[in-house]
Amino acid sequence: MTVPPTSTRPLWSDVVLVSVCGGTVDGKITAPIRGISIDTRSIGEGDLFVALKDQRDGHDFVTAAFKAGAAAALVVNTYARREGDGGLIRVEDPLRSLEDAARVARFRSDAKVVAVTGSVGKTGTKEMLRLCLGLAGKTHASEKSYNNHWGVPLTLARMPTDTEYGVFEIGMSNAGEIAQLVRMVAPDVGIITTVEPVHLAQFASVSDIAEAKAELMLGLPRDGVIILNRDNPHFDLLAMRADERQLRVVAFGTHRDCDVRMESVDLGPDDSLVTASVHGRQMRYRIGAAGRHWVMNSLAALAAIDAVGADLNTCLAALADISAPAGRGARSEIKAGGGTILLIDESYNANPASMAAALANLGALPRAQYRRRVAILGDMRELGANADTLHRGLLAFVEAADVDVVHACGPHMRALYDALPATRRGAYAATSLELSDAVRQGVASGDAVMIKGSLGTNMAPLVKLVRALGDPKV
Ligand SMILES: Nc1ncnc2c1ncn2[C@@H]1O[C@H](COP(=O)(O)OP(=O)(O)OP(=O)(O)O)[C@@H](O)[C@H]1O
Ligand SMILES: [Mg+2]
Repeated sequence: MTVPPTSTRPLWSDVVLVSVCGGTVDGKITAPIRGISIDTRSIGEGDLFVALKDQRDGHDFVTAAFKAGAAAALVVNTYARREGDGGLIRVEDPLRSLEDAARVARFRSDAKVVAVTGSVGKTGTKEMLRLCLGLAGKTHASEKSYNNHWGVPLTLARMPTDTEYGVFEIGMSNAGEIAQLVRMVAPDVGIITTVEPVHLAQFASVSDIAEAKAELMLGLPRDGVIILNRDNPHFDLLAMRADERQLRVVAFGTHRDCDVRMESVDLGPDDSLVTASVHGRQMRYRIGAAGRHWVMNSLAALAAIDAVGADLNTCLAALADISAPAGRGARSEIKAGGGTILLIDESYNANPASMAAALANLGALPRAQYRRRVAILGDMRELGANADTLHRGLLAFVEAADVDVVHACGPHMRALYDALPATRRGAYAATSLELSDAVRQGVASGDAVMIKGSLGTNMAPLVKLVRALGDPKV
């Protein structure tokens, strides 16, 4: 696959950037700005370093940024210059200035822009679009899950002028956040992947979550395209909001009224073969990652590729190259005791929708290849008052996937654990670390092991532990 070369033009001229940021220059900016960074661990030569205050204060890293090659740093007026610092752009608030740069970056580009939100599947869909549209033209997309109040403006401000397709992930944990971010992105096309009980603690109901996702429509022009999941119970509500805003709805899913409809699918242990119709045109393609949720997300991607006017036949080949990222379904085979353990690492996040998807994936593995299906499950966070009920509700998916053993940890996962039939019940512990011994003893060669929980439940050490069960390398 050939990816178009990245532009050699500088991202920003220093003069333009200083004026856009409304700043004053202290010292000398040495080079035109080639990129923008907020993290000295990944900063590139010639980057602008933006000192943001998040979990840490970026101002503590300004000097390190210059050491690593920064061309300039965007800092607050009161920052005291340190030994080794280069050209500083002093502003009232670096985040506000980054947002200003973001708006200008959007305004000066002719890119066709797609914004992706939804309770789950944002990054997966964004990655599919990044790969697919990359075959059609110069594509710029959010890094990782950079979808919040700094991730979105950072991604926009990094967008080269000659970008042809832009793909932006937009997330939220509270009402009003998407509205603010999407106005900056000003997309031509919006996608709401799905609406599920995620971040429920901040909302009174799942329909309130749907309303918050509908804020994506506030950034679309009249007649803009909003891509909605026809199979989701909140479709009617979202379609009504789209109608109020005179947007064009493109529906995807399995429902017979879909514009982009899955006609058939062959779900394999490592990939999926899909036949879909896109406004009546039949398309066949392979997705390089296993699981029905990838198939559903791909339908939204197809709808967006078509809506921005790119050629589907050119783009779809890229879907074969997609793979589940670390912590979100990445698979590895561990050689142990003369056989293999299949490890499915879902330790990065968890909510009822992604738990259901991950359990279904485990259940789709061939019995002939894997002796037992083992699920190691930790708490799904931020579910509010219904948390125990939602955890207990996973039982149906455990049974449907015919999981042989469930090991559980976390106070809410206790609700599932207590509901499990004795035949499927493994060990329980209050914390992930206390489950270590049970996991060490309970996983063996021939098992397929899926580990999932919210990031805060700290499932990653258990992933490491299963990896360590592998034979020592000789
Ligand atoms: N359409 C879907 N339906 C159900 N589960 C899904 C769907 N898409 C992805 N998932 C599951 O959700 C997990 C997270 O997927 P992804 O990273 O694409 O979501 P996200 O919306 O970007 O999440 P975040 O809010 O953390 O950025 C994956 O591990 C996958 O198992
Ligand atoms: Mg994401």
